[in-house]
Amino acid sequence: MANFGGKRAGQIVRLGGNGIGQVMAAVAVAFLVRLVSVPGPSLSADDEGDYETDDAVGGGEGGQDVGDDSVSGGGVRPVTIRWRNVTCSLSDKKSKSVRFLLNNVSGEAKPGRLLAIMGASGSGKTTLLNVLAGQLVASPRLHLSGLLEINGKPRSNKSYKFAYIRQEDLFFSQLTVRETLSLAAELQLGEVYTAQERDEYVNNLLFKMGLVSCANTNVGDAKVRGISGGEKKRLSLACELIASPSVIFADEPTTGLDAFQAEKVMETLRQLAQDGHTVICSIHQPRGSVYYKFDDILLLTEGALIYAGPAHNEPLKYFSKFGYTCPDHMNPAEFLADLISVDYSSSENVNTSQKRIDGLVESFSQQSTLTLYAAPLNRKETFKSHISLNRKTNGGRKGGWWREFRLLLRRAWLQAFRDGPTNKVRANMSVASAIIFGSVFWRMGRSQTSIQDRMGLLQVAAINTAMAALTKTVSVFPKERAIVDRERAKGSYSLGPYLLSKLLAETPIGAAFPLMFGALVYPMARLHPSLCRFAKFCGIITVESFAASAMGLTVGAMVPTTEAAMAVGPSLMTVFIVFGGYYINASNTPVIFRWIPRVSLIRWAFQGLCINEFRGLEFDHEHSFHLQTGEQALERLSFGGSTIGDTVTAQSRILLFWYCNTYILLEKNKPKYQLIEPPPSEAGELKSLAENELLDLDYIKEKVETDTITADESESYQKFESPPADKIRPFILEGEE
Ligand SMILES: Nc1ncnc2c1ncn2[C@@H]1O[C@H](COP(=O)(O)OP(=O)(O)O)[C@@H](O)[C@H]1O
Ligand SMILES: [Mg+2]
Repeated sequence: MANFGGKRAGQIVRLGGNGIGQVMAAVAVAFLVRLVSVPGPSLSADDEGDYETDDAVGGGEGGQDVGDDSVSGGGVRPVTIRWRNVTCSLSDKKSKSVRFLLNNVSGEAKPGRLLAIMGASGSGKTTLLNVLAGQLVASPRLHLSGLLEINGKPRSNKSYKFAYIRQEDLFFSQLTVRETLSLAAELQLGEVYTAQERDEYVNNLLFKMGLVSCANTNVGDAKVRGISGGEKKRLSLACELIASPSVIFADEPTTGLDAFQAEKVMETLRQLAQDGHTVICSIHQPRGSVYYKFDDILLLTEGALIYAGPAHNEPLKYFSKFGYTCPDHMNPAEFLADLISVDYSSSENVNTSQKRIDGLVESFSQQSTLTLYAAPLNRKETFKSHISLNRKTNGGRKGGWWREFRLLLRRAWLQAFRDGPTNKVRANMSVASAIIFGSVFWRMGRSQTSIQDRMGLLQVAAINTAMAALTKTVSVFPKERAIVDRERAKGSYSLGPYLLSKLLAETPIGAAFPLMFGALVYPMARLHPSLCRFAKFCGIITVESFAASAMGLTVGAMVPTTEAAMAVGPSLMTVFIVFGGYYINASNTPVIFRWIPRVSLIRWAFQGLCINEFRGLEFDHEHSFHLQTGEQALERLSFGGSTIGDTVTAQSRILLFWYCNTYILLEKNKPKYQLIEPPPSEAGELKSLAENELLDLDYIKEKVETDTITADESESYQKFESPPADKIRPFILEGEE
């Protein structure tokens, strides 16, 4: 492999001939060698051991662990999650203020129970869920501290399997429910199950999730309606359940659903809890029947805890101690929501409700310190068993490179091929623009003025082809990337097979549109009448279309949203259009811009098309200063010395360059998760324990390293220890007897 790589690199570099060419060739070869020789970078927690360092570096991959027991299919390993003094703050450098997204939140989630995190929107529910799942996206402005324990052992989100159902459901729209689930099962369960067992497993899941009736319906998207919101949510859940997770996190699973669908989703979650899963969901304001499905409840308001404990009538009893009683006919969830919300209707109401909330927060924090976590943990013992647990539950990736490639190729093909509306629009646009340009440049003759027309048409053809491919890609890829990011975070597959399968699957459909355009415009404009030239014309614009598409992929991988990609992509293309060879002559380009035409896909396409068209063409001429041959026209454009082969090679290099960039960016832009630091008091305690040699030395080292904080952070650290001044208010309980 190494020999192969080295040899190819040498050849391509010699071919390149110039600096940029060499760099691009080197990157391309690195990419190729990587694709061919190694099974791609591992995303899941595959590597044996070293979990502690991984955690210390940046919260790890955040992926769900696909462990040995995922194949057992049946029983779930019980996992209890406890968290203590979780504080998450957001510092604002400009106003030098610190805002608490979570303030000293403690709680517990047990197997077999459904815990609901309730609170108004913006109260920190999603933040808390992310913290508990180890999926809080890292930011230098955020600071996270607290203790998180899994089965009484220090936190590692790799020591247990979890599912995270996010608020928005993302799927490949053209796959049916069954296909989506089968593919997820094949990717996650891999070769361990036989095809028959997998089918049975998928059928069972479809049945369990109530998806049998829509199993063969396409998931759908905004363009073509597919399954309903509730079905999408249950499909998300089903996909996540494949790895048989111990813990299920669900962020507002009912938001956006009608009451009936919401109830069905919550019922599914309750069933899962009864099957032994630990289920934690956030919910804004459930209806009464949903409220009674909860086993435990945690009430949040502006990041602070108001109540954590059993659900049903317990919270009502608790609040009635302070004189807040729920009227008999009222939905307890509504009562609680009203109780913990600030009433912004008038300044007076704001004051009283704020006082009430502060009072409730204060009184809960007082009573919870007495009851929660009374027994301290023996750290040395627990840490050792924590490691052995990790070793036991972490298996290897379930599929090989080719397996993943084959599965992803099928999905990409189905997605591209079945997307009727998109393909129809693209076909219509290709035909329409061909007809428009064909009519404008209708049957060009061989007059002197036709030289300019020819150049104009070829430039327009190059721009049109590139723009069509670019806009299609940038409008679709960011959405797809979000799905792929999630799947890769789960460790379902690696980037190499994904990218390669996508490129391969989209090649036939991607080529169809420029070919359509070429087939119409060429005879209409009566370009160089030769079949061979026509074939080359189509070839050049097809390669250009792929290059533009690859550029779109890079843009989509670089920016976070479709909107941003739509803004960046065409602007970048405009630069390449300006240096496309028609508007400014290559020999007049200022020295500092000379590199742009060399990397401009428009220029190479235009140059190739011009050479293809003008070489061997004779023009009518009367005067001596008239151009007589196509070669002379090419000289005017400074395209004299090159061949079509040169331009196609250059275009291919650009294509590879964009592909490599996409790969690198996707690899680099993986989400990084915020590391949870022990609360300030805990860090000090650990150091003193180390002095007494009570602890495993490696553990101490890791702990102390993660606790090392920069001067900047220590400033915000100070701020946590004492609550901000405006938080301490006179404690008045309005309803107290
Ligand atoms: N990374 C972040 N940067 C800035 N603000 C954030 C960030 N994460 C959360 N917030 C803010 O924290 C508050 C709580 O957010 P969230 O947990 O999403 O609330 P909920 O899910 O309860 O609606 C919101 O006001 C939100 O704007
Ligand atoms: Mg939320």
